[in-house]
Amino acid sequence: MTPTVKILASRPCVAACLHRARALPAVDRASLSPSLGPTGCRGGRRCAAQAAGPQTALAPSREEVITADPANNVTDNIFSKIGVNLHQQRGHPLCTIKEAIYDYMDKEFPGVFSKHDNLYPVVPTVANFDDVLVPLDHVSRSPNDTYYVNKATVLRCHTSAHQAELLRKGEGNFLATGDVYRRDTIDATHYPVFHQMEAVRVMKEDYWRATGLEPVVACERELKATLEGVARHLFGDVECRWVDAYFPFTEPSFELEIYFNGDWLEVLGCGVMQQSILDDNYAAGTKGWAFGIGLERWAMVLFDIPDIRLFWTDDERMTKQFPPGDLSARFKPFSKYPPCFKDMAFWVSPEFSENNLCELVRSVAGDLAEEVKLIDEFTNPKTNRTSRCYRISYRSMERSLTDEEINEVQFRVRDAVAEKLKVELR
Ligand code: DAH
Repeated sequence: MTPTVKILASRPCVAACLHRARALPAVDRASLSPSLGPTGCRGGRRCAAQAAGPQTALAPSREEVITADPANNVTDNIFSKIGVNLHQQRGHPLCTIKEAIYDYMDKEFPGVFSKHDNLYPVVPTVANFDDVLVPLDHVSRSPNDTYYVNKATVLRCHTSAHQAELLRKGEGNFLATGDVYRRDTIDATHYPVFHQMEAVRVMKEDYWRATGLEPVVACERELKATLEGVARHLFGDVECRWVDAYFPFTEPSFELEIYFNGDWLEVLGCGVMQQSILDDNYAAGTKGWAFGIGLERWAMVLFDIPDIRLFWTDDERMTKQFPPGDLSARFKPFSKYPPCFKDMAFWVSPEFSENNLCELVRSVAGDLAEEVKLIDEFTNPKTNRTSRCYRISYRSMERSLTDEEINEVQFRVRDAVAEKLKVELR
């Protein structure tokens, strides 16, 4: 089969001052930011610290992530998500998925895997990219795709950002779960913040020698058996198939697909770890495997959740549907409110990017923005200028929107687009 070539895959489609953070190894957030208050909550959404109790750690302050640095592209909307930690809230579908994976891994490898779900999401660029061998010209490094605090510091765009630092701390078997941040388009399966679980499993030399297999074969075998087991633990007796893939940090690399509800679905990326990551950060002669799972994707598939924004709602008609630990819960739609569509056409400038447009729409409209879709494009042959028309669909998960309200939002979106994106509205 042809390998799937992806950068960092596993976006959640149902289908990633810091001097402080930089100077310190990957420690749990609890031990960071001693200057912040006891919870780091900023109010607003249901906060993990309120929901999950004392073990919840601190979040960075606004000044730490929104700075005057020319490379800074973190918005207030994004800042408001940091520290919410949905994956720590008992009963939240993402937490249920996390715990179910923990259960399986603990059953198969008793006492082996350490668990981290509170690692600081602001990481050195080096940890996010270089330490896991992401090439310098890789698209994921672009500020169009990743949130930069400054050139040397990003909001992690994948939990693989913690691989090297945890290995350097001597951790050879770990599960690291956290919120990850990526600039992206807007639709039912994409949200600029989502959650991943990273696993690393190192085999010491005597262990893989005892298998009598080539080390890469020993790793691949254990990796695949483990992941098929995890998938079946959550999804039932599903058919699994392996697709060759590409990730900078593994060789060979694979994606697992499961046959669920009549479709083959890609559910994770994994592979045998690049030897240099182990040699440079852990110990020569060791071999290992790793995987990365997008928790929203698993939860959307398993629980039938149709829109990624539902993970962020406090509406009890959603939250009450998911008792802690219940893998058999299925989302029952509660009244779906009508969408409201607004079109916006403009002449694009050379710097225009769809991700920038979506970022602005989210900054103004928040979770009311359901989808931003290109519906028309043409180039005037005389002037060579290109016009695009985007349709923004607004819909609340919780209530009916009034026309006046959306007109007002749309006005603000148009103003922001004209001012910030330097395009000419038509
Ligand atoms: N970091 C990858 C992503 O965000 C997911 C991933 C793939 C993690 C393969 C891994 C791995 O550890 O081995 O798309």
